[in-house]
Amino acid sequence: MFGEMLRDAYAVHTGIGPRPLAGGRLPRPVIEIIERDDGLVNGAPAAHYLDGPEHWQPYDHRAVDRARGATLDIGTGGGRIALALQERGVPVTGLDTSLGALRVCRHRGVRDLVPGTVDAHVADGRRYDTFLLLGNNLGLIEGRERAPVLLAALAAMARPGAQVIAHGTDPYGTTDPLHTGYHERNRRRGRLGGQLRLRLRYRELGTDWFDYLVCSATELAELVHGSPWELADVDDRDAPYYLATLRLAG
Ligand SMILES: C[S@@+](CC[C@H](N)C(=O)[O-])C[C@H]1O[C@@H](n2cnc3c(N)ncnc32)[C@H](O)[C@@H]1O
Repeated sequence: MFGEMLRDAYAVHTGIGPRPLAGGRLPRPVIEIIERDDGLVNGAPAAHYLDGPEHWQPYDHRAVDRARGATLDIGTGGGRIALALQERGVPVTGLDTSLGALRVCRHRGVRDLVPGTVDAHVADGRRYDTFLLLGNNLGLIEGRERAPVLLAALAAMARPGAQVIAHGTDPYGTTDPLHTGYHERNRRRGRLGGQLRLRLRYRELGTDWFDYLVCSATELAELVHGSPWELADVDDRDAPYYLATLRLAG
């Protein structure tokens, strides 16, 4: 689903190839539909997955500035971050579970691409200095059960002195009862407040339900505690968004 959506967003972006049209003539915007398990539905334009640095948020620039050495861009999507790093001469590998997303990345010129998950990539024997979880992809740590597994897999691929740079969002500033109620319901079920249960839809396609974590920096510190990593820095200049830097502990 993500791949088909990116393919269409890329066709709109370049003006090349078939794309959804209204009445067979007029381009339709490519919209990612995000459905939460309480019934909340949001739509977001997919075009931003292809944005060049001139359209990025300030924290994206700061994240890219911190990348050094062999870098793994986890959930690279349309490859916007990987392309920028490549242009700077940073050796970057784009990892994604979506083959369609990787196809778009290849078209756009990302040279080093790996299909699959972090866990599967461990067996490939490659080692990295920087791991990026950008575009809110701190969410991939999912929750209390998944976090230690993912953090251990990253540590298994880490060179000495390695860092993780992750973009997260603190969900708890809101007073919207729809969200505060959702957070409470999650906690009653033993989940973290912002442990979202989502599925994505595009046109007639949809993903299965999956967990995606939106957590505060305090919650992140608890999740990281006891893992091979320590939370070295939280840059919240663009609150509620933040960039968390993890470093291999001692
Ligand atoms: C929210 S997008 C972020 C894209 C990109 N990082 C950016 O900033 O534009 C999430 C991406 O992660 C990928 N993804 C989802 N689960 C994954 C997993 N377990 N391992 C690797 N990639 C994953 C999706 O296919 C998608 O391309």
